[in-house]
Amino acid sequence: MPCDDRLHFRCYRRRTFLTLALAPLLAVGAQAEEDESDKPPAPDDRFTFLTGPKKGQVVRAEDLALGGPQMQVFPMAPDGTVRNNRLSLVILARFDPATLSEETRAHAADGVVAYTAVCTHQGCPVNMWSTDRKAFVCSCHGSVFDPRNGAEVLDGPAPRPLPALGLKLKDGVVTVARTFTSRVGGTQG
Ligand code: FES
Repeated sequence: MPCDDRLHFRCYRRRTFLTLALAPLLAVGAQAEEDESDKPPAPDDRFTFLTGPKKGQVVRAEDLALGGPQMQVFPMAPDGTVRNNRLSLVILARFDPATLSEETRAHAADGVVAYTAVCTHQGCPVNMWSTDRKAFVCSCHGSVFDPRNGAEVLDGPAPRPLPALGLKLKDGVVTVARTFTSRVGGTQG
C-alpha cells in the first residue's frame, strides 16, 4: 500500500524505520569528511598560512623570505580541506639551495624546506627563530634545530631532528611530494 497518508499508523512506522536506518549512514558520511582534516600531509597537498596578512592563502615559494625565518602553515588537501590537526602543523622556510646539505636538498624544492612544527622533545610548536644561528627554536625548553641540515638538533633536550616533508613546486606553489621522513610527535606522543 502506498504511504501517502501521513496519519496512517503503518506509514508512520515505515517512515520512522527508514529515518532510523539512514541516520547512521549520514553520520558515517559526516565523519568521513571530518577524518580528512585529521589526516597527516599527503602528496599533492598544498599549504595555507596559519597567521599573518596572508592567513588562509595558498603558499607560494616567493612568499617565504630568503634565509628565514620560518612560517607556520597547515597542509591543504587537493579538495581544499585544511588538515588543521595538531600533528599536521608544518614550518616552511626558504634558503639558497647551495647552503643546504645534500640530504636536505633532496627533500627541498628550489631551496624551500618543510619540517613538522611539532617538537620532538615534548611536542610544543617550534615557533621561534634565532637570527644569530639561523635556526628554528622551540620556546618551551630551548631546543634549536638546523633547517639547512635536516633539522639536526644544535642545542637543547630534543632527542632527534624534526621529521622532514618532501616538497615540489607546481607553478610556484609549494606542494607536498613525499610524506614525513619519520614519526611526528614528542617523546610522549
Ligand atoms: S618541547 Fe620543545 S624543547 Fe621541550
